[in-house]
Amino acid sequence: MIYMQDVWYHIDKYPILSNINLRVKPGEFVYLVGASGAGKSTVLRLIHMELMPTRGFVKVADYQSHRIQPHEIPLFRRKVSVIFQDFKLLDDRDVYENVAFALWATGVPRRKIKKRVFHVLAEVGLSHRRYAMPSELSGGEKQRVAIARALANEPFVLLADEPTGNLDPESTHEIMQLLMRIHRKGTAVLMATHKETMPDTQYPMRMVRLNEGKIAS
Ligand SMILES: Nc1ncnc2c1ncn2[C@@H]1O[C@H](COP(=O)(O)OP(=O)(O)OP(=O)(O)O)[C@@H](O)[C@H]1O
Ligand SMILES: [Mg+2]
Repeated sequence: MIYMQDVWYHIDKYPILSNINLRVKPGEFVYLVGASGAGKSTVLRLIHMELMPTRGFVKVADYQSHRIQPHEIPLFRRKVSVIFQDFKLLDDRDVYENVAFALWATGVPRRKIKKRVFHVLAEVGLSHRRYAMPSELSGGEKQRVAIARALANEPFVLLADEPTGNLDPESTHEIMQLLMRIHRKGTAVLMATHKETMPDTQYPMRMVRLNEGKIAS
């Protein structure tokens, strides 16, 4: 479903990524590890098509980096969503509105929005916090709102860039459990982290290691 073939990414002729080949199957859980600067975020941004490869190509479902048209990007991003270390919530809107916004922005009718927001908030265990403002939430709760928002449009893949980077061990555990549950329900998850060890779990996931812009293992 995600396919990167001989992908290079240069900034001013300097190669940030070189010769990346990566394939993620539908419903896979891939753990992308590597030191700071190894290129993990760059890989995710290429898959999200915020960046275009300077050589090779990226294919995500039926979308190809060298063919996609600017007007197709919003539709594409509904199906490939991202969460970040710093949550990126809208601080002047409550939990409900943060999630609803993702649907509203894609033209979903109001009646359907309400149903869907309630559904995804229940999925992340935050129904009772729907009128809270982001400033009233713990880090773990903020990330759960971001995950609910990411799931609102029923993506087939969730890209997670250091989703637990700002969290204490307990919230980290909670968010990992949630990502695994989402995965079990059929969404592929590609998670980047600089933590070199697998999370303490028997959960089936594949580890891909990046080193200085190349896949090391
Ligand atoms: N806009 C940019 N201009 C110049 N260099 C950049 C830019 N973006 C990324 N880089 C460089 O590309 C390399 C890979 O960056 P990237 O953010 O993908 O790494 P990362 O593995 O996500 O690191 P971290 O764990 O710190 O998030 C780094 O050496 C970084 O300095
Ligand atoms: Mg990064």
